[in-house]
Amino acid sequence: MLRDGALLIRDGLIAAVGARPEIESLPESRSAEKIDVGGRVVLPGFVDSHTHLIHAASRAEEYELKIAGASYEEIARKGGGILNSVKKLRAATPDALKKRAHAALREFAAHGTTTLEAKSGYGLDVASELKILRLHKELSAEQALEIVSTFLGAHVVPAEYRRKPRGTEQYIAALLTDKLIPEVAAEKLAEFCDVFCDRGAFSRKDSKKILEAGKKHGLAPRVHAEQLTRTGATQLAVQLGAASCDHLEQVSKADIRALAESNTVATLLPGCDFHLGLKQYAPARALIDAGAVVALATDYNPGTSPTMSMPMILSLACTQLRMSPAEAIAAATINTAYSLRREKQIGSIETGKQADLAVFDVEDYREIPYYFGVNKCWMTLKKGRPVFQKAHT
Ligand code: NIG
Ligand code: FE
Repeated sequence: MLRDGALLIRDGLIAAVGARPEIESLPESRSAEKIDVGGRVVLPGFVDSHTHLIHAASRAEEYELKIAGASYEEIARKGGGILNSVKKLRAATPDALKKRAHAALREFAAHGTTTLEAKSGYGLDVASELKILRLHKELSAEQALEIVSTFLGAHVVPAEYRRKPRGTEQYIAALLTDKLIPEVAAEKLAEFCDVFCDRGAFSRKDSKKILEAGKKHGLAPRVHAEQLTRTGATQLAVQLGAASCDHLEQVSKADIRALAESNTVATLLPGCDFHLGLKQYAPARALIDAGAVVALATDYNPGTSPTMSMPMILSLACTQLRMSPAEAIAAATINTAYSLRREKQIGSIETGKQADLAVFDVEDYREIPYYFGVNKCWMTLKKGRPVFQKAHT
């Protein structure tokens, strides 16, 4: 932590960082444009490593059913859940999806996020999955935040395949391994391949097949693991050298050990448990104490975590996961950057890195998770340029 610090930004990169008098006396600083943040707290911009950015609509009607007692899995079995979002996405025009995503991206920026991962997975047919992944590319070009694209064709088996005998097998073969993965790789539409490995989604065996096909085509694995039930997805992820293993509410002691001995990042998504009203959060303390790399992300999606707010995730990480404010901040910046394989460019305030910064209107960094349900982000800069500034302050 640096008190009364300053940084010099050149061409979007951090050219120098240190004590204010020292930075101000650099010859280059004299001609630089000055941004005075008035003693507020400056953090590296948040790197949100797990979002389902592109979807057509909220699922507020299911939220009400859940409050009345229906479980997430019950709703999914009746054709709601992810399949509900798939139906809506297939019917939506790219323009409507893009408009909704742009609005969400403005919210991400307003809460201090400067880079986010985005998954496909509400299309689940060739045309609709490609529609989502191409939107990731277009959105990257049209606004300032960086979007890292992940292919999640293996979110669930779509309705039309559920009616066929051996439908899961056919879906995996036809869409994923034979057709979509090669197409996604050839068009460079994604860097990562993700699988939802859980009851009601894909088995560990199927997940292995899909992730290996992705790897063969240069897509690094990420996994939705041990969220609703323990499937062994964590150990699979570690074996495959996955970049990240996400959720982890149901991990075993052996899973924690496997993560601790690996470079696979344990990405925790407490927004899901909060929104679904579940009592069992992931064992963050045990993971940290064992030596795992723990990261935090929003999991922004319409079914389990409708939030774009990393500060809210930090609040949950501190009070529910018992992470310290400093651990939570590291988990949401440098550790998520590492899981997206961008730790050399983003995730910390260091000379040579991108000037991706979030400024908070607080006196002590611990007040960032301490306040909740209010937005204390005051300014967000991407590559040195303001992309959000709070009005009336
Ligand atoms: O990360 N678990 C799978 N995918 C999402 C939920 C998707 C949905 O319900 O629409 C998640 O929680
Ligand atoms: Fe997810």
